[in-house]
Amino acid sequence: MDKLIIEGAKPLKGTVTISGAKNSCLPILAATLLTDDKCVIKNVPSLGDVFTMLKIMRALGIDTAMKDGVITVKPTTRRNFTAPYELVSTMRASVCVLGPLLAKMKRAEVSFPGGCVIGPRPIDLHLKGIKSLGARLDVKEGYIVAESKRLRGNHVYLGGHFGSSVLATANVMMAATLARGRTVIENAACEPEIVDLAHFLKKMGAKIENIATHRIEIEGVKSLKGVTHHVIPDRIETGTFIIASGITRGDITIKNARPDHLNCVIDKLRESGLSIDTSKNTIKVKYKKPLRPMDITTLPYPGFPTDLQAQMMSLMAVTEGISVVTEKIYPERFIHISELNRMGVDIKLEGPTAIVKGMKKRPSGARVMASDLRASAALVLAGLVAKGKTEISRIYHLDRGYEKIEKKLVSLGAKIWREHE
Ligand code: EPU
Repeated sequence: MDKLIIEGAKPLKGTVTISGAKNSCLPILAATLLTDDKCVIKNVPSLGDVFTMLKIMRALGIDTAMKDGVITVKPTTRRNFTAPYELVSTMRASVCVLGPLLAKMKRAEVSFPGGCVIGPRPIDLHLKGIKSLGARLDVKEGYIVAESKRLRGNHVYLGGHFGSSVLATANVMMAATLARGRTVIENAACEPEIVDLAHFLKKMGAKIENIATHRIEIEGVKSLKGVTHHVIPDRIETGTFIIASGITRGDITIKNARPDHLNCVIDKLRESGLSIDTSKNTIKVKYKKPLRPMDITTLPYPGFPTDLQAQMMSLMAVTEGISVVTEKIYPERFIHISELNRMGVDIKLEGPTAIVKGMKKRPSGARVMASDLRASAALVLAGLVAKGKTEISRIYHLDRGYEKIEKKLVSLGAKIWREHE
């Protein structure tokens, strides 16, 4: 296992280029299961989660090749419908093969994804949606077994306790593209990754309306064709670099970004005093004066993304005054707090709300452990500004979702390197 070592306290300066969005690539790869043709996906980041998805595709009888950020996907004559436990249990997002597999193959056997360190992550909405399209569903030996000769369009309400669901929307939207008749998804997610997936499906020949709203409509078609698609930039990686510039009092230019996907985050940080200039695909972030404390509440898009909550907490830790974080997507997604506390940061948890007593002095470098992807990013950010050395172990979490993170940070002047534990 690798660990990251960071010697903190240098302002980041320079230019960084954002990679393709992990959370777009994963459902888009799943969507290629809907066709018998070859698909080409461009701007794909080289990440652990993408490699896991490619393994699942191969297990399903799809040939895949990845080179220089381009994935070519080609179905073989050996197609099958079982997504195995060994792979699905390592990445929850793999459940999004259920809808396309069932729609195309008439049967899907997908291992039930397991628990998750960021809290309970049920899949009841996925199952409700797929069932309402007329599939017979069963759970056998830990697998969801779904069958249907041809799915039927229906009216589906996909809201849960915490609002819309990103991957349940993806699953039902993909399944509905090949269903007979019209499907309406109420309380659909409208995250940019869902919009990217819908654009991909439309290119394939799917009939989808009201994309980017909470009421998506899909008219089923008989078949879909292979296409080429360029994935959108990763808004969470972008947000992480914006925060990195703020936390290190830096001055960085972020290229290949979509500032329009981060309105809420940019607004919050500007309110706090960070200078952020945006143009179509570029964001310039400059620390000019001490930041003011912030309060954020995570919500489905276009609200503040839960995937940037942990990183914001690291910034709050070095922003003098009391900041408040309320987590409304995953009320238990706070494992990073105990690790940040080890670095001398004062954070208290009261239910789904964290109170951060930001200090003028820098956190102190420490040995900490990455627990999940975004928590790991928060520790890297804290390490960048900490006094002394920070050692982050178990960074395979980080490699699941941030492409070449230490290379990118080094190019901005950070002192960060990888060692084998
Ligand atoms: N939920 C249910 N029932 C369901 C599905 C979800 O109650 O059937 C609940 C969840 O427990 C949560 C809320 O609904 O409280 C929203 O979860 P959602 O389904 O939207 O999450 P997801 O689709 O499984 C995606 C991202 C996550 C991101 C969330 C929220 C991918 C591959 N994953 O997960 O990304 O946190 O949306 O925005 O798109 C990450 O990249 O680090 C990550 C965890």
